[in-house]
Amino acid sequence: MDKIPLCRAALGDEERQAVLEVLASGWLTDGPKTRQLEQDLADYLGVGHAVAMNSCTSALFLALKANDIRGEVLLPSFTFVASANAVATAGATPVFVDIDRRDGNLDPALLEAALTPRTEALMVVHYAGQCCRMDQVRDFVERHGLLLIEDSAETLGGTYEGRPSGSWGVGCFSFFPTKNITTGEGGMLTTNDERLARRVRTLVGHGIPKTTQERSQMPGWFRAAEEPGYNFRLSNLLAAIGVEQMKKLEGLNQARRDNAARLIEGLKGLEGLGLPRENPGCRHVYQMFTITVPGGRRDQLVEHLRAQGIEASVHFDPPVHLHPAYAGQAHAPLPQTEWLSKHILTLPMYPHMGAPALERIIEAIGGFWGHA
Ligand SMILES: Cc1ncc(COP(=O)(O)O)c(C=O)c1O
Repeated sequence: MDKIPLCRAALGDEERQAVLEVLASGWLTDGPKTRQLEQDLADYLGVGHAVAMNSCTSALFLALKANDIRGEVLLPSFTFVASANAVATAGATPVFVDIDRRDGNLDPALLEAALTPRTEALMVVHYAGQCCRMDQVRDFVERHGLLLIEDSAETLGGTYEGRPSGSWGVGCFSFFPTKNITTGEGGMLTTNDERLARRVRTLVGHGIPKTTQERSQMPGWFRAAEEPGYNFRLSNLLAAIGVEQMKKLEGLNQARRDNAARLIEGLKGLEGLGLPRENPGCRHVYQMFTITVPGGRRDQLVEHLRAQGIEASVHFDPPVHLHPAYAGQAHAPLPQTEWLSKHILTLPMYPHMGAPALERIIEAIGGFWGHA
């Protein structure tokens, strides 16, 4: 029986053709396709600026670095470790806030209690394709004059009250192969703040305020750095894939939503199984499809599915505050985070799964329930 992978990028002839054209053009580093991808994403989100780079981790890091954030940053522990790594490597202190275990997103009711005089920023993580409760989040950051960073790695195309993820604060996106669109590796920072966009763009390219292509068209040999920077550039080759993926984004997300609807319908009768729910005002884009499994049987179900060629996994266990790198760094108990980490299970989810794969997953879980 064919294996059903956890994820599979939706790539076609358009992406192949676009890569071949860039190869033929000879311009392989940051270039015109990089600029086009930035413009396309900025237009899609309705934001003023988008700066492409090599990963979402780099975008999160630069969101902090370019705002000179060195104090405390509130964020969930229920996330991929990259969110906290960006904070720690930027020289700031992660302060973990508990989540609402019904959706895996940060619980805005707990933010006030986590605030200290050293708090400088809030990094929300839109988990698995669904936005946090952004009206409450925005009120909180405005009330306390904090920088808002959105780790939107998992939620390109998700909206809250019609407004897209990544357009509320400084948005950070990932184009890793499991995400809503991919470039293999890649990321984007989005903002309406022109000064921030300029500084981030400069830091992405060694601290030099002109891109390689701009410099190639200037007289002389301008290479003066304004400040110490990095090489986080996104190559023209990878951006070309992203430009084609952006054209398909809405269709890909709709396919994810349709797949999720079928899984929810097929699994809804199983006693105690927790299914993802679209919160009021949200458009969920199901970058992942995660369920909760009661009765200490989560690990058993992962094994049961894998034995049938269905690649189940877990996002996220352990939560970040229980990684060796962050041991002892939780400022307060995180009971909801720890509960969800022990019960969550990720099922395969990608746009072109097809009906037979969806039915196999539903049957396999139904079978496990029957035999449990
Ligand atoms: C919530 C979250 N943040 C950050 C990242 C890191 O993205 P990238 O691999 O593009 O650095 C991921 C990707 O796995 C993620 O899921």
